Amino acid sequence: MAEAAVLQTTMTEAAPEKVTGGEEVLVPYASQRVAYWYFVIALALFVLQLLVGLWLGISYAFTIPQNIVDALPFGLTRAMHTNLLVLWMLLGFMGGTYYLVPEEAEREIYSVKLAYIQLVAFVATGVIALVGFAFGWTQGKPILEIPTPLDFVVVIGALIFLFNVAMTVIKGKKTAILGMLLGGLVFLALLYIFGMPFYRNLTIDWFYWWWVVHLWVEGAWELVTAAILAFVLIKVTGVDRRVVEKYLYIETALFLFTGLAGTGHHYYWIGAPSTWLWIGGIFSAMEVLPIIAMVIDTFRTQRQKGVVIKDKVVWTFAVGTAVGHLIGAGVFGFAHTLPQINYFTHGSQVTASHGHLAFFGAYALLNFTMFWYAMPKLRGVRKVDATAAISGFWIMSLAVLGLGVAMAVAGIIQTYVERVLGQGFMVAQANMQFWFKVVLVFGVVLIVGLLMTFWQMVFAKEAPGEQEATV
Ligand code: HEM
Ligand code: HEM
Ligand SMILES: [Fe+2]
Repeated sequence: MAEAAVLQTTMTEAAPEKVTGGEEVLVPYASQRVAYWYFVIALALFVLQLLVGLWLGISYAFTIPQNIVDALPFGLTRAMHTNLLVLWMLLGFMGGTYYLVPEEAEREIYSVKLAYIQLVAFVATGVIALVGFAFGWTQGKPILEIPTPLDFVVVIGALIFLFNVAMTVIKGKKTAILGMLLGGLVFLALLYIFGMPFYRNLTIDWFYWWWVVHLWVEGAWELVTAAILAFVLIKVTGVDRRVVEKYLYIETALFLFTGLAGTGHHYYWIGAPSTWLWIGGIFSAMEVLPIIAMVIDTFRTQRQKGVVIKDKVVWTFAVGTAVGHLIGAGVFGFAHTLPQINYFTHGSQVTASHGHLAFFGAYALLNFTMFWYAMPKLRGVRKVDATAAISGFWIMSLAVLGLGVAMAVAGIIQTYVERVLGQGFMVAQANMQFWFKVVLVFGVVLIVGLLMTFWQMVFAKEAPGEQEATV
């Protein structure tokens, strides 16, 4: 089937004000274009995150002269790496929301101006925060390092965003996808507030810190992901909306049921009551169920009668998200979630390994699914070079898999040397250095894959020939 016809079919649900990229309607609502800058900035910040990540890897792989360590300390660069991660992913989700909402609600975004103001607010906060870290201006809590005054800017930015999206939805058509998305975004914003105060009792401080960190990635972000994935699956496969939505409800209920109580897997050793060992162990083990359901559901969508995959690239990333989620969050999460195992692995490189595989598999790939769906259209490109785009997928995914496995090996060595043999921290580090050299090699490959993908999304010209219709 020709791409032109494909896009025409895809856009049949869409309505009036057409913005065209050539003769065909690529982006049905003018305000969807806001997403472009969200995506480009998100991609650039991801590149920056990885460059800083390389430095972290070098810090583990080699013994570095003290004066260089003083200039670029681990604590500072780690904060940059993780904050850049959260910033680019949130910008990606917000851009994705602005792209998706008009097509779902069948109307323009309430205020394009507010969408840009909010983008500037977030990016400015990010830049000030990163520079501030270098001068010791930090709240000290990992991942949530940004100091309280900047937290308030984030809250204002989030309120503008929620207002803008909610007004669009209120004035437009209401769909299950929009309900899920808005619910997830409100939940996400509310949770942030719990991480803002500093509680003098450290157990309580950590207790609420996890409300942000855990309940984001294992609660609110799952809802946002489910909504974005459902939107893309409907568009790319043409499967009946009601079928996709039905599963969306079931999965979301399961995600919330298991993920909320699953927070307990972080309360084992922080001084919380010992009942959390049971609650955390049982419920977090069950968190794997909705993830498996999501993978089955994605493949089931493909097998629906008469389904033709209209966009091979987007489909590859969508399936990759489901499978990556299963490996990173499901398998690697489950591996250390029971207290009997976590007792040994807690806070080791086993944790970091899972963190990388889960964040990339679930949320980096989800963002890329949306980017690949929207970016070509936003640039008026009707057909992308599918082979190049899909090779980008494999390079990045296999690199992260390699990096994650190498970290896991380092973590197992660390656990054994420190917690079974009872040797010192530095003895363990010396035994881990080789595996961090492996991490570095995969890190470089990942950066190459990302730069390739970035270039293709932002600059690549229209590819000649017909779009393939099947996967
Ligand atoms: C996409 C979803 C997920 C993401 C992005 C994610 C990410 C992370 C990250 C970054 C950490 C490290 C936090 C820190 O200490 O700084 C972590 C810890 C942990 N995660 Fe996940 N996770 C996900 C899902 C899961 C699931 C489904 C499970 C269980 C089945 C799980 C089990 C754990 C456990 C037990 C820890 C604590 C490790 C320790 O004690 O050091 N995670 N996760
Ligand atoms: C160039 C590739 C990368 C390298 C070399 C790298 C290296 C590292 C290192 C060494 C740490 C510190 C672990 C520790 O505290 O001991 C770290 C932390 C982290 N990185 Fe990366 N990283 C890379 C890419 C990524 C990617 C692609 C993601 C997610 C999509 C990511 C997410 C994280 C997270 C969530 C943490 C905190 C983990 C935790 O709390 O346990 N990194 N990274
Ligand atoms: Fe968790």
